[in-house]
Amino acid sequence: MVTIREATLEDIPDLVYLEERVFDTDRINAASFRNYIRNTRGTRIATVIAKDNTKLLGYYVLYLSYTVTSTRLYSLAVAKEYQGKGFGLLLLKNAEKRTRSAGKEYLRLEVKVSNTKAIDFYRKLGYTEYARQLGFYEDGSVAIKMKKQLWIK
Ligand SMILES: CC(C)(COP(=O)(O)OP(=O)(O)OC[C@H]1O[C@@H](n2cnc3c(N)ncnc32)[C@H](O)[C@@H]1OP(=O)(O)O)[C@@H](O)C(=O)NCCC(=O)NCCS
Repeated sequence: MVTIREATLEDIPDLVYLEERVFDTDRINAASFRNYIRNTRGTRIATVIAKDNTKLLGYYVLYLSYTVTSTRLYSLAVAKEYQGKGFGLLLLKNAEKRTRSAGKEYLRLEVKVSNTKAIDFYRKLGYTEYARQLGFYEDGSVAIKMKKQLWIK
């Protein structure tokens, strides 16, 4: 059975393993995952999607206190062998639900300009580009900033 649940400290080795296989740069390390999971300020959420509660399929990290009106999807990834099966969609919908529950209007995110697969995925799910930021990533790449309005005041 596939479930979405909060990440725990026991997930960290699997999260780091997934991160190393999915991203070339700007990887989240074990220490950062530990901070997100401990979430002492209550503003960052690390959520995983897992099979039978153990096999990690993917995760997202969400900053709840990004701005007054928006949250920020800091990272989202699905393990290579599980991509294209709807798990990214399930994770993104869950992050959108958390955003709405926090009373925020927008979910914002950044995506590397070369990551056409993720850009197409976000566009398909209603995200639109609102800005670009030069040199955003460790390798100097440009970030496309995208957002989606989740409800209208
Ligand atoms: C981007 C990512 C999270 C998408 O997750 P996924 O599980 O592969 O995507 P899903 O299977 O949930 O796809 C959801 C929808 O998006 C569509 N989609 C997925 N990949 C797509 C692509 N390359 N082009 C167009 N549409 C795409 C799917 O067709 C699906 O729509 P459908 O249900 O109508 O068929 C995943 O590919 C990933 O982890 N990539 C590597 C890490 C990464 O780039 N993260 C984003 C950093 S900003």
